[in-house]
Amino acid sequence: MSLTFDRRVVLVTGAGGGLGKEYALAFAERGASVVVNDLGADSKGGGKSSAAADKVVDEIKAKGGKAVANYDSVEDGEKLVQAALDAFGRIDIVVNNAGILRDRSFIRTSDLDWDLIHRVHLRGSFLVTRAAWNHMKKQKFGRIIMTASAAGIYGNFGQANYSAAKLGLLGLSNTLAIEGRKYNIHCNTIAPVAGSRLTETVMPPDLVAALKPEYVAPMVLWLCHEQCQENGGLFEVGAGWIGKLRWERTQGGITRQRNQPMTPEAVRDQWDKVCDFTDATKPTSVQESLQSIVSVLSKVESGQDVDAGPTSAPAASSTSGINPTAAVGQKLPPTTFSFSHTQCILYALGVGMSTKDPDHLRFLYEGHPDFGCLPTFGVIPSQAAMMDGGLSSLPGLKIDLTQVLHGEQYLELYKSLPTSGQLTSEATIADILDKGSGAVILLEGERVLTVFHPPDCTAVKSLSLPLSVNTYSGDELLCFNQFSVFVVGAGGFGGKRTSEKAKPLVPPPQRAPDVVLVDSTTNDQAALYRLSGDWNPLHIDPSFAAMGGFQAPILHGLCSFGFAARHVLKQFAGNDPGRFKAIKVRFVKPVMPGQSLQTEMWKEGSRVHIQCKVKETGAVVLSGAYVDLHETAETSQCLPQAEGDLQSELVFAEIGRRIQDSGGELVKKVNAVFGWEITKDGKNVAEWTIDLKNGSGALHRGAYGGKTDVTFTASDEDFMEVVQGKLNPQKAFFSGKLKIRGNVMLGQKLEVILKDHARL
Ligand code: NAI
Repeated sequence: MSLTFDRRVVLVTGAGGGLGKEYALAFAERGASVVVNDLGADSKGGGKSSAAADKVVDEIKAKGGKAVANYDSVEDGEKLVQAALDAFGRIDIVVNNAGILRDRSFIRTSDLDWDLIHRVHLRGSFLVTRAAWNHMKKQKFGRIIMTASAAGIYGNFGQANYSAAKLGLLGLSNTLAIEGRKYNIHCNTIAPVAGSRLTETVMPPDLVAALKPEYVAPMVLWLCHEQCQENGGLFEVGAGWIGKLRWERTQGGITRQRNQPMTPEAVRDQWDKVCDFTDATKPTSVQESLQSIVSVLSKVESGQDVDAGPTSAPAASSTSGINPTAAVGQKLPPTTFSFSHTQCILYALGVGMSTKDPDHLRFLYEGHPDFGCLPTFGVIPSQAAMMDGGLSSLPGLKIDLTQVLHGEQYLELYKSLPTSGQLTSEATIADILDKGSGAVILLEGERVLTVFHPPDCTAVKSLSLPLSVNTYSGDELLCFNQFSVFVVGAGGFGGKRTSEKAKPLVPPPQRAPDVVLVDSTTNDQAALYRLSGDWNPLHIDPSFAAMGGFQAPILHGLCSFGFAARHVLKQFAGNDPGRFKAIKVRFVKPVMPGQSLQTEMWKEGSRVHIQCKVKETGAVVLSGAYVDLHETAETSQCLPQAEGDLQSELVFAEIGRRIQDSGGELVKKVNAVFGWEITKDGKNVAEWTIDLKNGSGALHRGAYGGKTDVTFTASDEDFMEVVQGKLNPQKAFFSGKLKIRGNVMLGQKLEVILKDHARL
C-alpha cells in the first residue's frame, strides 16, 4: 500500500528552495495540505522575498495539490503555525528545515555570526515546534523533523557556529521524542546531504547536480507517516542511502578505590581502558547511562573488582550471554535463614500491623495463645537466595545485575509457617523468556539490586526470568516462591516469549469490587520494613532515591504485597494464617511511605482477586493479583476429612507444582489419569487424581468426574515409604500395602513425576 497523507497538514520551513521545496512538493503529491514557509532570504540570512514560497505553491497547485505560502521568519514560530490553522484548521507535521550559513574560522566568528545561526536553526526550530506542540498533543498525533548536519555530528572546519546549533537540534529532538511519546508525537533528526545553494560553495558542481534533494525527501515522508513508529532517531541520508546513528560507550575503567582519593595519575593509568571500544555498550537513555555509573559506587564501596569497568558484567545489550538450554533448571547455591519470633513480629509491623487492631495481636505478641507468623513472611527467607547475587554466576546466564527488576511475585504455602527455626532455600531458574527487541513492555517493577526505576515504557530488549525458590524446614517443604524478574536489555537472544512455568497473573472480574479496605502506611513504613531483610538504599536514602528519579525513598513492593495479603486474610479468612494458600501479584507502580493503600477485593470461590491502589492518587500499584484460600470447614464438609496432618499432602502439593511447571511435557510422556486413595487407620481420608492425559495436566483433590486409568490405595505412612524409596512398590503390592485397580502397568509411569525427588 502506498503511503498517503490525505488528511494531514504539513508545515515545511524554508521550503522556497533546496531540500524544503522538494519536501513540500512530495507531501503535496501524496495528498497533504502544505504550508510552504520561506522568508526568501539569501544564504547568509540577509534580505527577504515572497517569490520563493509563491513559486513552490504555484507549482503544487498546478499539479492539483493543496498549498499556501507563508513568508514569516521561523523566529516568529507562532505565525507559521497560525498560517496552517487559518488555511487548513490543523497541524500534523512540522519539518524544521529553514537554514542559513555564516561560515568563518572559529576565531573570526563574530557575535552576529554566532547569534544569527542559532536564532534561525536552533531557536527557530524551537519556536515553530513549540507553537505546534499542544495541537499535536490534543489530537494525539504529531510528527516532527529536526534538520542537523554532519558538521554538527563530526565537526567541520569553519563551521563552529553552525555545528553547535545543528547538534543542539539533536539534543532538542532527543528530549521531544521522550516528552511526545505518550501523545504519539514522534520527533526524529536527519543529517541530509544534497546539492543546494548551501552546498554549491563547498561541493564540485557535478556532485551538487548529482546529489538531488529528491534522494532525501522520501525519507522525510516516511518518518512523518502515521505508520512509522521511529522516534528519537538520528539518520544520515543522501543519494538514496540512509543510515542510522547511535551512541557507543567503552566498557571504561574505574579509577578510584575504596577510601582512597581519585587522582589524575589513576586516570592516566586507566586511559587505554577508558578509550578501548572492545565490547562497547550502546546506552540509549539517561537511565541506562547513569545506571552503570552508579553501580560503580556500590562496586567501589564494597571493594569488588575495581579494575573492571562500570559495566564489567557482560553488556546488557549483549546477546551472547544468554543460553537458555544451559541456564534453565540451574540451581543457585542454597541459603539458610535463622529466625525467632522477633523477625515474625518485626515483619508484621513492617506490613502495617498495629496493636490498635485487637485482631492483630496474634501476630504481634509472642505470648498470645494463637501467636503465629503472617503467611507472606514466606517471601523473606527466600529473598536471600535471590539477593545474594548468585544469579549472574550461572552458566548460560550472563546478565548485568544492575538491570534486574522485580516484576512479579508468587508465594504458595504448604504448611503454616513456624515462628522460629532455621530454613533452607533453594532457587532454580524455572525458565527464561525473551521479550525480544522492539516489544513494548511495561517495566515498572522495582529494581532489586540498584536504585533505579526503569523507564515507564520502553522498547528495549528484555528478558523475563521466573525464578523458583523452595524453602524447607529440615526436609519438609514449607513454601514455594516465584520471583519474576526482568533483565532490561538482555533480551533478543532468540528465546521463547511465554512459559507455562511462569505463574500467570489473573485480571479481576469486571464488576465493582466486593470489598475495599483502606489502610495508611506511615512515613517510616519503608524504614521499618527494610529491617526484615531488604536493605536496598532506594527505600531509605533520599539521595539514592533521587538518583533513581524519585522525589523520596519509595516503599518496598513486597511491603505493599504484605498489606494487600493481610487485608484478604482479615476480610475473608478471619486472620487465620492456616487458611492462606497462595498469592500472586504484579508490581506496577511505586508507593511512597505515608500514602494510603486501598485494596479492592473480589471473592470468586476460594480465590480472592485483588487490585491495590494508592488512595490519594488512584494509581494502581499491584495488578493481576489474587490470594487463594483453603476452603473453610463448612465448604469442605463433603470431602473426606483428614485426621491430623497427612504427610502425603505435601507430596501431592509438590506433584501439583510439577504439573504446573511442566505439565505439558508430562502429559506427552505419560498420557494417563492416576487416582490415589490415602487411608489412615483403615479409613479413606483423602483422594487425589493426577491427570496427565488432558490439556496440560492437572491435580485434583477429592472426587473426580472423569475415569482414572489406574487407582492406587495406600495408607498415608506406606505412601510416604514408597515415595521416599524406603518401600519397594512391588513388595508393597504383594504384601497388600498398596492396592491397585485398573491398568497395573501404568504404575511404572508414575516414576516420571516422582523421580529425582530426593526431597520427597
Ligand atoms: P537552502 O538554502 O536551499 O534552503 C534553506 C531555505 O531556508 C532557503 O530557501 C531560505 O530562504 C530559507 N530560510 C532561511 N532563513 C529562514 C528563516 N529565518 N525563516 C524561514 N526560512 C528561512 O538549503 P538546503 O541545502 O536545502 O538546506 C536545508 C536544510 O538542510 C538546512 O537547515 C541546512 O542547514 C540543512 N543541511 C543541508 C545540507 C545539504 O547538503 N544541502 C547538509 C546538512 C544540512
